[in-house]
Amino acid sequence: MKRIKAIIVVPEVNLQLVLLYTFLLQWTMALDPNSIPVEKKPLYVPPLQEIADVLNKGLTSNFAEVKVEVVDSPDLTQKPFSLASKGGSAKIVEIGGPPYLLPVVDRNKVYDLKDIANLVHSNPAFIVGAGAGPHPYIGVNCEGIYNLNIINGTVEQHTRISKVDQNDENSIQEILPNSESRVALLANLFFCEGKPGKVLKVHVKKRIGPKDFIASIRTVLEEAYKDKLVGLGGAFVLKEGKAKQHVMRDFSKTPIEDEEALNNWLKFYNMSAPLVALGTLVNGDGGLDLRVQHFHSFSHHGEAGHYHYDTTPEIVEYLGYFNTGDEIYRIDKPKATHSWGRD
Ligand SMILES: *[C@@H]1O[C@H](CO)[C@@H](O)[C@H](O)[C@H]1NC(C)=O
Ligand SMILES: *[C@@H]1O[C@H](CO)[C@@H](O)[C@H](O)[C@H]1NC(C)=O
Ligand SMILES: [Zn+2]
Repeated sequence: MKRIKAIIVVPEVNLQLVLLYTFLLQWTMALDPNSIPVEKKPLYVPPLQEIADVLNKGLTSNFAEVKVEVVDSPDLTQKPFSLASKGGSAKIVEIGGPPYLLPVVDRNKVYDLKDIANLVHSNPAFIVGAGAGPHPYIGVNCEGIYNLNIINGTVEQHTRISKVDQNDENSIQEILPNSESRVALLANLFFCEGKPGKVLKVHVKKRIGPKDFIASIRTVLEEAYKDKLVGLGGAFVLKEGKAKQHVMRDFSKTPIEDEEALNNWLKFYNMSAPLVALGTLVNGDGGLDLRVQHFHSFSHHGEAGHYHYDTTPEIVEYLGYFNTGDEIYRIDKPKATHSWGRD
C-alpha cells in the first residue's frame, strides 16, 4: 500500500521530464569519456621478419600456396583497399564485448571514437577494424567496417556500415558521414599514426585445411609465442572466391539465450570477392577477456559484413597487409562476461 502511494505522489510532470531526459541522453550522447574504464598492457613485438618466417612455415598446413614477406607498406589508400591512411606505430584497442549485446542489448553502450582516440593517446589516429555500427544514427542495429582518420579532433570517415533490409533481407552498405564517429557495444580496432613503414605481406591461395585466413595466422602465432601476447591488425582482400559473412538483424525483441538462437537471429550471406576486411587478432586472452580475432569486410559492389570463412577453398586467394601492435587497450570490459557469440 505504502509503495503505491509513493508512486502516485511523484509529480507526473517531473516523471515525464525525467523520462524525456533519459531518452534524449540515450539517443544524443555517447558515454561520458571520463567514466569509461581503461586497462592497458604492453604487447610482445617480435621482429616482422621472424613472424614472416614463422608464418611461411606454419600456414602451409592450411593453404597450398603461401608467401609471407616484410615489405614497405604499399599505398593502401588506393583501391581495392581504400584505407583512410597508411600505417606506423600501432595499438590494438578492444571496446566492450558480446555481453553488451547478448542475451539483451544495452543501448547505452555507444562510444565516440574521438573520445577513444584521446583515451589511448592517439593523434593523429588512423583507425581500422570491426565493431557494431552506430545504431542511434542508422536507426537499426548494424555492422561497422571502421576506417577513419581523426586528426586534432577532426574526423575523416571512410567507414562503411552494413544492415539488413527489413523488407527483402538483402544487406545494405552505406558510408558514414564525417559528422558520425561513434561505435556501439563492441569493437576490435587497430589505431596507428598513419605513417609509411614496414609491414607483413601475407599472400595465400587454395585452402587445404579447415581454418579461415585469420584463424590460420592466429593459431601459428599461438604456437610460436606460447607465453607471450602478440597482436596484429590490418587489412586483407579476399581476391577470388566467396565468403560466409553475417550481418546482425535489428535488435531482438526477445532475449538471445544461446548460440543456436544467435545463429537464427544473425542473417548469413555468401558474399563475393573482392572483399576488403579490416580488424585485429591476438594470440591469447591476455587476462583481459579479449576477442581473439574479429574482421569485418566491405566491398565496392555493395556487400559488407562480419567475416567467418571462405566457402570456395579450391579457388580462394587472400592478400593481407598486417602490422604488430605495441600495446593493447581494453576499454569498458564487461564486468559480467560469457564466452559465446565471439565467432
Ligand atoms: C594538429 O595540431 C598540431 C599542434 O597544434 C599542429 O602542429 C598540426 O599541424 C595540426 N595538424 C593538422 C593536420 O591540423
Ligand atoms: C557459396 O558460393 C560458392 C560459389 O558459388 C558455392 O560453391 C558455395 O556452395 C556457396 N555456399 C553456400 C553456403 O551457399
Ligand atoms: Zn563482427
